[in-house]
Parts: sequence; C-alpha cells; structure tokens
Amino acid sequence: LMLFSHKVLLWYAKNKRTLPWRRTRDPYKIWLSEIMLQQTRIIQGTPYYLRFIENFPTVHDLAAASEENILKLWQGLGYYTRARNLHATAKIISSDFDGKFPEEYNALIKLKGIGDYTASAIASICFDEPQPVLDGNVYRVLSRYFGVEMATNTAAGSKFFRQLAKEVMDSENIRDYNQGIMEFGALQCTPQNPNCSICPLREDCIAFQQNKVDMLPLKANKQKVRIRHFNYLVPVSIASDGNIMTLLRQRKGKGIWENLWEFPLVESDTEIGPKEVGEAVKNFLHLDDILKIRQFNEAVIVHKLSHQHLYTKFWLVETEDKLKQSIPLVQLKDYPVPVLIADFLDTFKNSYF
Ligand code: ADE
Repeated sequence: LMLFSHKVLLWYAKNKRTLPWRRTRDPYKIWLSEIMLQQTRIIQGTPYYLRFIENFPTVHDLAAASEENILKLWQGLGYYTRARNLHATAKIISSDFDGKFPEEYNALIKLKGIGDYTASAIASICFDEPQPVLDGNVYRVLSRYFGVEMATNTAAGSKFFRQLAKEVMDSENIRDYNQGIMEFGALQCTPQNPNCSICPLREDCIAFQQNKVDMLPLKANKQKVRIRHFNYLVPVSIASDGNIMTLLRQRKGKGIWENLWEFPLVESDTEIGPKEVGEAVKNFLHLDDILKIRQFNEAVIVHKLSHQHLYTKFWLVETEDKLKQSIPLVQLKDYPVPVLIADFLDTFKNSYF
C-alpha cells in the first residue's frame, strides 16, 4: 500500500512544470509568487512575477518603491489591497528585520497580508517546516480522494480540512509535497472534466469509486452578488497645443480599487440614459459648453468582481471648456487603473481617432 503523500510526490516528480520560483528558496521570491498566485493562474501570473522581480530584485527595492509604481505593475491582478499589504510588509522587513524574512510559520503569520496559506507556503518551501498549505486546489484534491462531503468554506469545514491535511502530509518532504498537491490539483485533478482514466491516484480515490468526482468539493451557499450601475463620464477637449485632454480622479476610501484612477463616476440605482447623464455632467463636472454626450459602448459592460457585478456605461462628453487638472490622453497609460478602465482605454484608443 502506497501512502497518499507518496503518490503525490511521485506524480509531482514526473509532472511538475518548470517555473521561475521553483529553483529558489529565497523567501522574498516565494512570498511574491505565492501572493500573486492567490489572484490568478500560473500562466497569467508568471509575467507579473517576472516583472516584479526585474523591477524590485530585493525586498529593499520593493520597500523603496512608490505605491503608484507598485500598483501600476500590479494592474490587472485585482484585489489591490494585496499590493498595498505587500508594500507595507516589504517596508517592515526592509527596515525592522534588516531585509531578512522570519523563518517560522508563527512569526510569518503576524505580518500584514500573510495569512495561513502564505505563512505555510513560505515556511514549508523555504525552511522545510511541516505546515500544510490549503488553497482551492488542495481542498479539491483532499475532498475527492478522501471523499469528504463537508463544505470547504465554513468554519467547521476549514478546521476539518486543516486537520486532515496535517494528517496526510509528508513532513519529511514538505517543500515538494505542498507544491506537488497544488500542482496535482491544477493539472490533473482539475475542477471541470478531470481525466480520471489516466490518474495514478484513482484506485484509492473515494470520489472516483463512488462516482462523485463532479460533485466534490462541496461549497456552502455563497454570499449574494451586489449589482451596481456605473456611469463613467469621459470628458474630451482639445487643448490649444492640439493635445486631446481628459480627466481622471483617484478613488479614495476603503472599498474596491482604493487609490486607483478612474474617470469621474456617477453611480445610479438603476440603468440611466443620456438625459440623466446630461444633468449629472452639469452638476458634477460644471461644464458650460457641452458639444455632445454619447454613450461609447453600445451594450452595457458587465464587469464581474467576486462579490459585485458592475453594470457599466462609458459616456463621452465633448466640450470646448478648458478642463481643470486635465491629463493628455497619451499620458493615461502612466496611471494605475482598474482593468475595466484599461479595457475601455484600449478600445477607445483604437476607435476614437
Ligand atoms: N499554486 C500556488 N502556488 C503554487 C505552487 N507553489 N506550486 C503549484 N501551484 C501553486
């Protein structure tokens, strides 16, 4: 009889991908990669990782960077609080710890933005401390292989899975075991249509035996999504030097996109049309000479975040007024903006001129 953990290790030895952070034990690099991989898949996350390492080779470089610069490089990954926590923790490690990361789970988890998952990943991958990682991949693999029909996203569920994970991990090879079980979940035991016919773990997989692969893992009913209606006012005016000018504002306060830049926003309870937008332009932008207001995107754009759906329209507001604190269109690329705005700018640039 071969242990679950040994099967995982064997599978990993044969199937692991070559990834830029797999050849190092540098906690700075492991920390960066693991924070990023909580946001995105490896394929999309890798270019971000490489760009960060290139721009900030050490934790001191990251600590010394401006938030603007960090947010710009983070743009597209979402959950911008993570980028800000990254910066805050880099500063602490750089100044208080002389650039040296703590080497134990219990010390790591005290740092801002480092929770159970990241502390376990750093402690195990860099320092061989036997702490199991639990991410979506691991929940899926464990729930299927051991046939656990308990929701993963409840307090009782996560406690149960953590206990199970501790019991079945390989403490002697924790660096490879943790990466192996995540890799196995990402490549073989996939959420949809896993190819169980070629899986070397299927003989002892309870879900496979009981034909329950498709229904596991179980999740408790998720929080309802909040629907919001966003109307972005995109002022456009030609400056005397011929530059096309517009306005951006920095989002303040807690909530989505803190400190990112966006066009002046009118949020409404329901979808609104040109008449209401015209009123808003007068009250909000204080423009006298509006030449034309038109909706740029024909269909409403539905931008989906984890707990919110943003029904969005972009309104072009052409004016001959001189805009206060305006920005030339060609400089917009220097501002960190939400993906929703970046996508708009791409189509806008290609179609407006
Ligand atoms: N997903 C997140 N971190 C990972 C890692 N280190 N190996 C494989 N998959 C991962």
